[in-house]
Amino acid sequence: MRILIVYQSHTGTVRTCVEQLSRELSRLDVDLCDLDERVLLPADYDAVILGGYIHADRLPKEMTRYIKAFSEDMLKRPLGLFLCCGYLDNYEDYVRKNFPAELVDHAFLTIPFGGELKPEKARGMDRLLLRIIRSTIQNAADHNEHEYTRVMPEILPENINRMASMLKGALQSIGRG
Ligand SMILES: Cc1cc2nc3c(=O)[nH]c(=O)nc-3n(C[C@H](O)[C@H](O)[C@H](O)COP(=O)(O)O)c2cc1C
Repeated sequence: MRILIVYQSHTGTVRTCVEQLSRELSRLDVDLCDLDERVLLPADYDAVILGGYIHADRLPKEMTRYIKAFSEDMLKRPLGLFLCCGYLDNYEDYVRKNFPAELVDHAFLTIPFGGELKPEKARGMDRLLLRIIRSTIQNAADHNEHEYTRVMPEILPENINRMASMLKGALQSIGRG
């Protein structure tokens, strides 16, 4: 039983989530494919889980290219999709903008793994932007008009666990669990 987890992480959140997911799947033969380092092919695996971070509403372009190039192969096997983002209330919008509808329809699960805002892990403008987003959220309590309802994002371990158990269910239903 070979499982492929394809991901990209800029400041480490996605990587932390993927590490937790692979611990949950420790009884299976899991290969991690960080698209910043290498490309592994869905056709060589029994199931695929794919996800990454959102910057300016979008997945990184290598991941978008990967999705385009290997959609056909991903449609032929169990597929789980996830995103990490700072604004969880925009999650549905990010799914619509970044994953082709046919992949979402095919996936046994599409879910947010949460997000983190870690300026200390970023550089230059990215660091500045993360500081600004953090302080906007922290100052939200000062706004009486409920102008900001956003809360500091966190990783959602229960969603990662759900991905692991749904994958196991999907493998069983195709007789490979
Ligand atoms: C340059 C930059 C742009 C970002 N843009 C968005 C965005 O448009 N929407 C959002 O929800 N989060 C945004 N974020 C937050 C990231 O999606 C969030 O920090 C996520 O956890 C990053 O995952 P990573 O640590 O694996 O890179 C942005 C972060 C950076 C650094």
